[in-house]
Amino acid sequence: MAPGDVLLAVVSWVHLLAAVVWVGGGLFYLLALRPALRSQALGPPGGAFTRAVAERFRAAVDLSILILLVTGVVLTFQRLTAPEASAAYGLVLALKIALSVAMFGLAYWLGRLGEVERLLGVRSAARAAPGRSGPWRPSAATATVILGAAILLLAELLRVLFR
Ligand code: HEM
Repeated sequence: MAPGDVLLAVVSWVHLLAAVVWVGGGLFYLLALRPALRSQALGPPGGAFTRAVAERFRAAVDLSILILLVTGVVLTFQRLTAPEASAAYGLVLALKIALSVAMFGLAYWLGRLGEVERLLGVRSAARAAPGRSGPWRPSAATATVILGAAILLLAELLRVLFR
């Protein structure tokens, strides 16, 4: 195994870790933290606990985005200069990058405009209060996790196509 291969494996691993932190953190929020917040078991939504969690998760997401961008650029350059890269691979990669940019944009928008409560979906929890009807609209946190899951699927497809 050449040193370049080892370096590439490390870059790939770090890219994967950053994806796990972001998507896994989002899933933990949707499946465990948000239900607990809604039940008020952790105090009032928007209280000190909510804020402390949101600030820490925000920092982890910001770092993940930076890592995904830097390692993603390295991986893209390596893959597209290899003979295995086909037109189909390029197309799926372009779609993956477009969805990633959408996910980054959503995270940026959440951070800039949404304040802590929006980041944690507390406002959408209020919208979903009993008695409110209407079509289901995903909260920004749900949309982020759905986008992340779609990107993971495309990453898997890329792995299959790169041969
Ligand atoms: C601009 C941003 C991004 C770029 C340029 C990028 C690029 C890439 C490339 C070129 C690969 C290699 C695919 C292959 O041939 O196997 C890859 C793999 C992967 N990407 Fe991204 N990506 C980006 C963002 C993201 C995001 C936001 C996620 C998840 C939320 C993600 C998750 C993954 C995963 C899980 C892999 C597989 C890693 C592995 O096999 O070790 N990527 N990415």
